[in-house]
Amino acid sequence: MATKSPDRTETGRNWASSEVAEQWSRRQARRDKTYGPATEMMLDLARISAGDRVLDVAAGTGDQTLLAARRVGPNGYVLTTDLSAAMLNVAAEAAREAGLTNIETRVMDSASLDLDADSFDVVICRLGLMLFPDPPKALREIHRVLKRGGKLAALVFSTTEKNPYQGLPLAITCRLGGTMSPQFSLSEPGVLDEAFRGGGFQDINVHPVSFRRHFSSVTEVIQSLRDTIFTREAMSKLTDAEREQAWSEIDQQLGKLQGPGGLDLPGEMLIGVGTK
Ligand SMILES: C[S@@+](CC[C@H](N)C(=O)[O-])C[C@H]1O[C@@H](n2cnc3c(N)ncnc32)[C@H](O)[C@@H]1O
Repeated sequence: MATKSPDRTETGRNWASSEVAEQWSRRQARRDKTYGPATEMMLDLARISAGDRVLDVAAGTGDQTLLAARRVGPNGYVLTTDLSAAMLNVAAEAAREAGLTNIETRVMDSASLDLDADSFDVVICRLGLMLFPDPPKALREIHRVLKRGGKLAALVFSTTEKNPYQGLPLAITCRLGGTMSPQFSLSEPGVLDEAFRGGGFQDINVHPVSFRRHFSSVTEVIQSLRDTIFTREAMSKLTDAEREQAWSEIDQQLGKLQGPGGLDLPGEMLIGVGTK
């Protein structure tokens, strides 16, 4: 069956519910463990300094916002934006609990940033760019609001092959349901660089970052996947019979990756960095 292109407009809508915000929030500790080092590297590559004005695009529940706010300190400022008000409510609450007063939240579509030109030192975007309906359009907007010399650092997933935890189920659901997930849309070599170039950025570099996920059993991986928004979104495209077949194939394929100590699954992210 031929695969259809990812429907990224639908993806934006799918993330907007309070149920999804609650789910994303619940998995924060797991994200910190898995994506923490790559996130710190994204912030290092963005060269965030004390006193900077930072824009966080598609910030979700604000994991990376809080880290950026600590780096800019009391004289700096982080504007955290997302399409989902429910996500930003969680981020605002987390900022209050952490005692950070230099964070503001605003609902905003990445395709049209309601912000002045040349007004931010740094823009960060973790796990958002690949989901946007038109990534080059969002990149042009980000470029517009950056000051000259300012940096964008954006973290996206590398290929399905390098990310079996999500890649394997998505390859199976895609084959059965014929719909590609946008999650891996910027993962192939050269695609992220090209998108940055289309946005007007210079001095573009893409840094791969490896990580691992450990699970004690296939059952544990499946439980985790059932709670993952990307997998739930892909499964929702299938009929009941297709879904059942998909879970059975996922179970079988994961079984092949199980060793004596459980499953030690590799993963890879890409951090794109560009300068205005
Ligand atoms: C995978 S989550 C990442 C959230 C957060 N950056 C993190 O890494 O924890 C993707 C986020 O992108 C947001 N999003 C999707 N489309 C968007 C758009 N067009 N403009 C702004 N945000 C968008 C979703 O609401 C969601 O919060």
